[in-house]
Amino acid sequence: MTTIPLLPLNDGYRIPAIGFGTYPMDNPQAESAVREALDVGYRLFDTASRYGNESGVGTGLVSYDVGREDIFVTTKLRGADQGYDSTLRAFDRSLQLLKMSYVDLYLIHWPLPGKDLYVESWKALIELRNQGRARSIGVSNFLPEHITRLIDETGVVPAVNQIEMHVDFAQTEQRAFHARHDILTEAWSPLGRGQILENPTLRRVAERHGKSPAQVMLRWVVQTGAVPIPKSAHPERMRANLQAFSFQLTDEDMRDLATLDAPGHRTGGDPATYVEE
Ligand SMILES: NC(=O)c1ccc[n+]([C@@H]2O[C@H](COP(=O)([O-])OP(=O)(O)OC[C@H]3O[C@@H](n4cnc5c(N)ncnc54)[C@H](OP(=O)(O)O)[C@@H]3O)[C@@H](O)[C@H]2O)c1
Repeated sequence: MTTIPLLPLNDGYRIPAIGFGTYPMDNPQAESAVREALDVGYRLFDTASRYGNESGVGTGLVSYDVGREDIFVTTKLRGADQGYDSTLRAFDRSLQLLKMSYVDLYLIHWPLPGKDLYVESWKALIELRNQGRARSIGVSNFLPEHITRLIDETGVVPAVNQIEMHVDFAQTEQRAFHARHDILTEAWSPLGRGQILENPTLRRVAERHGKSPAQVMLRWVVQTGAVPIPKSAHPERMRANLQAFSFQLTDEDMRDLATLDAPGHRTGGDPATYVEE
């Protein structure tokens, strides 16, 4: 079984260097996938209130023979629950569904600047962190301007920003901002949802190492210092994806891969305008 390195967060906790994504699994699918992912070695699990599968993720985790301290569980606040009191209530519901007394990381899922409630929500996350029920707190899909406002208004820097990031949507400036503030980048859709796995440049780099394009995409994220959270419903792919730690990309590989990057390759919403349904 692959042993996954741990990376330090700015609050003293540590996060596994790769995680397991659970969107868009339903509760029964999430429950069995989480067990299979534990079997092959994953210890970081990513869910969200909005995915509707916290209960399945929780059942999969608590029914498995693994210590609570040996796993790292992330969930997220949905847009409809933003606001100080509603965030506290939503967090209680998430803990109940997960069947846990704390989460390792609680994130605000999207900034939703039109609602203008993310600072109030952040104050609630700070309270949850002070209570020890969310060990680390962070954000997702936050642009530098949103994070700057959180820091200016509360003095608390998020431990993590989970953003869309894949080799062809590299987020270089956003990651440089994170680095300046000691915020760890988590990469969602690190496989670009499977859309560029046939790309000739990616295939050429993969052939040089006798690896698959998916393994190269994940290795690229790891080598930037970010934490990828690939999703797969298939145990053989779950296992293969952990092999991102079994090889290294060279400077030449990284230069070749840099040619794939383009701002138009976003697959999800633009945080400046995104509105949750
Ligand atoms: N914070 C946010 O706003 C946000 C947004 C989106 C996603 N996320 C999180 O990030 C996680 C990952 O993102 P994602 O699911 O959108 O995309 P992804 O992990 O980039 O891609 C998942 C797709 O790749 C396929 N795949 C997995 N391993 C593969 C392999 N080795 N070879 C070929 N294909 C492979 C999967 O198919 P199979 O399942 O059939 O293997 C699935 O279709 C989500 O599950 C969720 O936890 C967060």
